Amino acid sequence: MFIIALLCLVGIAVAQQPHPCTSPPQWEGRIFSSNEKQHDTMRGKISYDATYRRVRIIEDFEVGDDEYAFDILSLFDSGLEFVYDLKAHNCTRRPITEQWRDFGIPQNARSYGEAYIGSSSFPDAGVLITIWGGNFTIPSVNVTLSYVSTWTYKGCLPVSRTVYSDTYGNDVLSIYDVTVGISDPNVFIPRRECLTAEEYTMRQALFGTPNKKN
Ligand SMILES: *[C@@H]1O[C@H](CO)[C@@H](O)[C@H](O)[C@H]1NC(C)=O
Ligand SMILES: *[C@@H]1O[C@H](CO)[C@@H](O)[C@H](O)[C@H]1NC(C)=O
Ligand SMILES: *[C@@H]1O[C@H](CO)[C@@H](O)[C@H](O)[C@H]1NC(C)=O
Repeated sequence: MFIIALLCLVGIAVAQQPHPCTSPPQWEGRIFSSNEKQHDTMRGKISYDATYRRVRIIEDFEVGDDEYAFDILSLFDSGLEFVYDLKAHNCTRRPITEQWRDFGIPQNARSYGEAYIGSSSFPDAGVLITIWGGNFTIPSVNVTLSYVSTWTYKGCLPVSRTVYSDTYGNDVLSIYDVTVGISDPNVFIPRRECLTAEEYTMRQALFGTPNKKN
């Protein structure tokens, strides 16, 4: 009898263990991030494509008293990044050194349960989110960072990502107004200012139709 009761309890505990949901691989939204230690804040618009591992962010960036505006296209499968300075009107092409970081829930993440942002007391006054955390290592510098991130329970859309570290300070990123899919497929083609005339002529062939890497 006791064992059966115990098994029932274990059964309930297992049943309640949340499973990571699957985020849409492509979405767009507004982002806001800040890092107190680095004295920086960033407000921007992001187009995110986990299928072909590419991200475009148009951002206002402030560090200390300095204000910048960038249009950054990061093509992780090509290992290439185009940084257009929207104030100086010049473009820098550079290799991507950091690893791809997916906005989906990592397989090895630990559940911190679910919660309402706002309230469940009134209709439409809250958003149910699912909370996951863990840690990851940046191999190039061998630094391990802890994170806690949240996704909407319905739709599994990213809501926030907080990365804690003594080395880099705490990074808090919030995501708003998410729309699923990519509204303009050309968003992952570098700006004209970032390409040579020859590359610009061939831009669709060079950047428009990536091959899926496995
Ligand atoms: C772009 O212009 C800024 C401001 O004049 C300058 O600091 C930066 O080095 C320039 N970058 C490139 C790639 O020319
Ligand atoms: C990383 O996460 C694992 C599992 O959650 C934990 O055991 C470990 O202590 C964490 N390491 C660090 C450096 O936070
Ligand atoms: C990374 O750092 C940990 C401890 O901080 C150490 O045990 C490990 O050997 C390091 N790995 C590499 C590849 O340097």
